[in-house]
Amino acid sequence: MQIETNLFLSLKIKLRTTALKFILNEQDVSPHPSAAETLLDYVRQVRQLKGTKIGCREGDCGACTILVGELIAGQLRYRSMTSCLMPLTNAHGKHIVTIEGVNFPDKLNVVQQAMAENGATQCGFCTPGFVMSLSGYCLNNPSASSDGVIAAIDGNICRCTGYKSIERAAIAIHKQLQISDDPIAFVADHEMMPAYFTNIKNRLENLFSEQQQEANTFEITSGSFVGGGTDLYVQRHGEMGHDNSFLFDKPELNFIRQEQNTCRMGPAVTISDLRESEIINKYIPHFHKFSKLVSSTPIRNMATVAGNFVNASPIGDFSIFFLALDASITLKQKSEERTLPLRDFYKGYKQLNKEPDEYISGISFKLPKENSFFNFEKVSKRTHLDIASVNSALYLELNNNVIEKAGIAAGGVGPIPLYLRKTSAFLEGKIINDTLIDEAIAVMKTEISPISDARGTKEYKTLLLCQLIKAHFINLNKR
Ligand SMILES: Cc1cc2nc3c(=O)[nH]c(=O)nc-3n(C[C@H](O)[C@H](O)[C@H](O)COP(=O)(O)OP(=O)(O)OC[C@H]3O[C@@H](n4cnc5c(N)ncnc54)[C@H](O)[C@@H]3O)c2cc1C
Ligand code: FES
Ligand code: FES
Repeated sequence: MQIETNLFLSLKIKLRTTALKFILNEQDVSPHPSAAETLLDYVRQVRQLKGTKIGCREGDCGACTILVGELIAGQLRYRSMTSCLMPLTNAHGKHIVTIEGVNFPDKLNVVQQAMAENGATQCGFCTPGFVMSLSGYCLNNPSASSDGVIAAIDGNICRCTGYKSIERAAIAIHKQLQISDDPIAFVADHEMMPAYFTNIKNRLENLFSEQQQEANTFEITSGSFVGGGTDLYVQRHGEMGHDNSFLFDKPELNFIRQEQNTCRMGPAVTISDLRESEIINKYIPHFHKFSKLVSSTPIRNMATVAGNFVNASPIGDFSIFFLALDASITLKQKSEERTLPLRDFYKGYKQLNKEPDEYISGISFKLPKENSFFNFEKVSKRTHLDIASVNSALYLELNNNVIEKAGIAAGGVGPIPLYLRKTSAFLEGKIINDTLIDEAIAVMKTEISPISDARGTKEYKTLLLCQLIKAHFINLNKR
């Protein structure tokens, strides 16, 4: 995912008052943005497509999973998303696939067949969500090992069948797929998915050229900004109108590019975009492992980095991640722009160095140097699909065993995502040894202020952070 564009600085977005245009299964649709708050409500209540289920409405269960097909660098790519948290507006210009859209009139598709043959469904409430996540896997290029197909269902919960039979079904599906230049043609030709999928790329290209003409008329006028909606539609469900500035559905705002030794990203970049970025994987080689600890595939497909920063949760994983990397953010309001270090963005609990009408229009950070080390650690009650009790990231630039530059950040130990200024400064210029780590931990304790809450006592959180700092240095030794 890299859309190189100069439109970034000059783009204007206005409230969307005209109809949205997207393809819903096989059909072109153009609802007014006020037709429904979320895509889930649109498909179930307006289109009467009841196969998509309502479970938690908080992004946790996956019963409402749909697929979103989008043209990226001329290629059609499908991602699973939780429709309960997806603003209807974010469907603009895309192919939205519900369970009805992967059905054949007279037989089961490859996923449904495997689920039935492996006894992978019981009450059936979760089944449409699993079928959609697995159908998305079929429509994209499958991975060489079966790890990818299991990862594809990491956002789906089943409360009665037991996961082993679902895993067996997933592996059976994986075995029928082949790595191909055109995975959509492969599954359509082999009658694994309906044939209409082969025309979607052309149809989206036509839709995209219509939207390009509209794009010049957009102007940001609202102070309420919406990214992927994964925070807003949980916290403020029911209050979210269509008269906001939706940043997620603007391809121009979704780019990751390298300019010399700096990485620049747009405000619509999601965690999944980072996972797929060659630049990120080259300079932060363990990014896949780190980001797997953050939410689930459908949420990562929607959650933006900018939304994580502005959400200002003291345990926001990507705030911690990019604080250690000393990222900067550009805030824009009408024609005025200013850039500030992310480290200066947080003023107090949920208080930001940001005017209400300012939005993050860009994020940048210096790419890690060759002689550098970066590590991210997170402890939560469950390993996956859980928020952190405490998290931490460490960035070091090294000259042999001497630390030339250090950045360490920690979450869950204060009212804001905390950049540990004193600890970072203490580490610089020092030789790494056991004593140094103990001394750094002692400095760290002077600049945190954890509180006891549902995620643990303040003593427990302090102990966790001590252990995470040790874990950073153990990983440094293992390199
Ligand atoms: C099931 C589930 C699991 C989750 N797991 C994790 C987890 O493991 N770790 C974690 O850190 N978070 C987690 N989250 C929280 C959330 O997904 C992230 O914080 C995400 O990055 C928010 O991004 P978004 O684009 O969805 O934000 P939105 O909900 O769209 O917006 C969040 C806030 O940011 C503002 N905003 C968004 N973009 C901009 C912009 N460009 N400029 C100005 N303001 C903006 C919005 O106005 C709003 O105040 C989880 C959420 C869910 C539902
Ligand atoms: S209804 Fe549970 S994730 Fe959407
Ligand atoms: S089959 Fe009942 S919840 Fe999964």
